[in-house]
Amino acid sequence: MFNSRIIGMGKYLPENVVTNDDLAKMMDTSNEWIVERTGIHERRHIVKGSDDSPSTMALKASKVALERAGLEADQLDMILFATLSPDYYFPGSGVLLQELLGIPACPAMDIRMQCSGFIYALSTADQFIKSGMYKNILVVGAENHSGGLDMTTRGRGVSVIFGDGAGAAILTREEDHSKGILSSHLYSEGKHAEELSLIGPSTMRWVPEIIDANDPLDESYYPYMNGQVVFKHAVVRFSEVINEGLTKNNWKAEDIDMFVPHQANLRISQFIQKKFGLSNDQVYNNIMRYGNTTAASIPIALTEAWEEGKVKEGDKVVLAAFGSGFTWGSTLMVW
Ligand code: UT7
Repeated sequence: MFNSRIIGMGKYLPENVVTNDDLAKMMDTSNEWIVERTGIHERRHIVKGSDDSPSTMALKASKVALERAGLEADQLDMILFATLSPDYYFPGSGVLLQELLGIPACPAMDIRMQCSGFIYALSTADQFIKSGMYKNILVVGAENHSGGLDMTTRGRGVSVIFGDGAGAAILTREEDHSKGILSSHLYSEGKHAEELSLIGPSTMRWVPEIIDANDPLDESYYPYMNGQVVFKHAVVRFSEVINEGLTKNNWKAEDIDMFVPHQANLRISQFIQKKFGLSNDQVYNNIMRYGNTTAASIPIALTEAWEEGKVKEGDKVVLAAFGSGFTWGSTLMVW
């Protein structure tokens, strides 16, 4: 049995910055409302017609991660691509990224676990490395939300929150069992599937059906979120799954050097910070600049924390996420 350890990280954000004031020109919202309820000041949106897509953004983040890891793409044994907004309905973005990286053949798998996608992908990579089956795995989270948001007042409860971007991590085999990923804790609860969902277009509701209904702007065409229900479950599940990880590893909250939560809402992060008695130095947030980038949010934040020297060798790091499904999870690692 081996451990797995992150040896390189990278991120990519589209250049186009969309401020709260920009959104207020498109819908009935305000900078004050968005900052007060979410902590978000701006996010990045792909410019329509540009080359940016989930797979090309993932490529840019992955190249940085590979360079920092000191690996070439052909040394990767596997790609795990977490996204809820793949380039195509099928095939998944994993195979597109594989082709862009110039890897002739390797398993390239999409992970459809929404905001918890990066945690699930990390844990999946960890299992393949632990078992000895693979040595080097690329785990990437990338999202193109802006292409499918309702940018009218009807969609304001969702569309002000989400942003585009990609983050990537290279995991490799680690023989020292005190380093790398120590444990992951994963959960799903499908009874809440529709509280945060995009129901159509889908196999149950194809585009022609929506158009035939003479209502191309039917609400089901856009993401739906029951914000208050999601918020209430998020704070409970975040706490449970972090506690489970701390207990499993015999850590206390004060042992945590860096906690990187999924960037869903600054109020959720602050609630968790307070609940666990963590100082500002123990928590990394960047939702202010990027909004909620779903599966990309943890790898982007972890990359930035590392770039800023806030995650160093030997540090105890906790990652946690909650989102659509509902799904949630945590990962505890020694950097
Ligand atoms: O990453 C996946 C997991 N996602 C989350 O964890 C998100 C969890 N939920 C949330 O973050 C919050 O529920 C939101 C930020 C989505 C919403 O904040 P809220 O404090 O729960 O607001 P609300 O939905 O209760 O809406 C309050 C009011 C409503 O108006 P009325 O009915 O009181 O007149 C909304 O129509 O705010 C209105 N509203 C807005 N007003 C201005 C909703 N969106 C907006 C907006 N601008 N963008």
